Amino acid sequence: MFEALLASLPESALACRALYDVASGGYHLPLREHNRRLTRAEVPQYRALYPQVHYDCIEVPVADLLYSLVVNTRSARILETGTSRGFSTCHLAAGARFVDERAAQVITIDPAPAANLFFEGSTLAESIVPVRADSLRFDLTQALGTGQCDFMFFDSLHTYAHLSAELAHYLPRLKLGGLFALHDTFVFDDLGLVVLAMLGTGRAEMLSLPTHRRHAEPARCPGMSIFRKIAPIQAGDLVFPDLQGITAGEQHCVPDPAAIVQRTGGLFVGDARYAAHGMHRGGPRGPLSPALLEPAQAASAAAGQPAVGTPGSRP
Ligand SMILES: C[S@@+](CC[C@H](N)C(=O)[O-])C[C@H]1O[C@@H](n2cnc3c(N)ncnc32)[C@H](O)[C@@H]1O
Repeated sequence: MFEALLASLPESALACRALYDVASGGYHLPLREHNRRLTRAEVPQYRALYPQVHYDCIEVPVADLLYSLVVNTRSARILETGTSRGFSTCHLAAGARFVDERAAQVITIDPAPAANLFFEGSTLAESIVPVRADSLRFDLTQALGTGQCDFMFFDSLHTYAHLSAELAHYLPRLKLGGLFALHDTFVFDDLGLVVLAMLGTGRAEMLSLPTHRRHAEPARCPGMSIFRKIAPIQAGDLVFPDLQGITAGEQHCVPDPAAIVQRTGGLFVGDARYAAHGMHRGGPRGPLSPALLEPAQAASAAAGQPAVGTPGSRP
């Protein structure tokens, strides 16, 4: 399996993998705007040339997981938002081609992808449709006709407004039973709220899992939430709550987490299944806390204190 992945990845993607810093989960890469074709032969040199690590590509273990998810679900038609250097794209395309080389198609959308995308000029590129656009302004019909996607990966603009709009826009085009994955749902409070709102629709089941990178708060990692579409979704069906004011990303949220709780309290606290409070802390969770925090028992035992975020309580 992974032999097949490694055999099908382009040279730049293989070199990128070799530039992964296992301790931090970053990459010894040039700045995104200086992205270049990479070769494995030059890896030792790059490590010296770019001692500062960058975090725009998903972690290698997450890329491996995406490949595995695509293969396990026999997904050939895939949508991705957030191409960047094309690292995740390469792994999605490798999986899709392993499933069905002829039908494999990865549509990847980014208004400002990096130069020298890792898949450019490679065999994988035959199965990749790069779209230079805002993901909210692209009509999948242009690339897919009336067909449906088997798998979707969302990793673009990390705000509540954007991700929720992406889900509303694209999920009608995901087949029933298809998986969709959201990266960074543990580390961006905005995205955690999208996860909770999506769960609240009852149209998908979900597993959130920690991921390998450690670069911000020690208690938090990017994380990934993997959903399975379990009910039909028509255009216009998904209407996410308007959380105006929480849409500017983590810069806005993290300094004032109480404001998130205040604005979302009615949605996620009390009788609702999940509570938003405590999301910013990354610490222990209560029975109604978001799935995005550490399990209560383990975390509180480690900290020697009771879990926070008890049902219905407000800070
Ligand atoms: C975290 S990077 C994606 C990393 C990529 N998935 C990988 O693993 O290599 C986020 C990307 O989202 C793109 N982006 C920002 N706004 C966007 C939008 N409105 N639509 C689609 N992509 C967007 C950025 O240009 C950036 O390249």
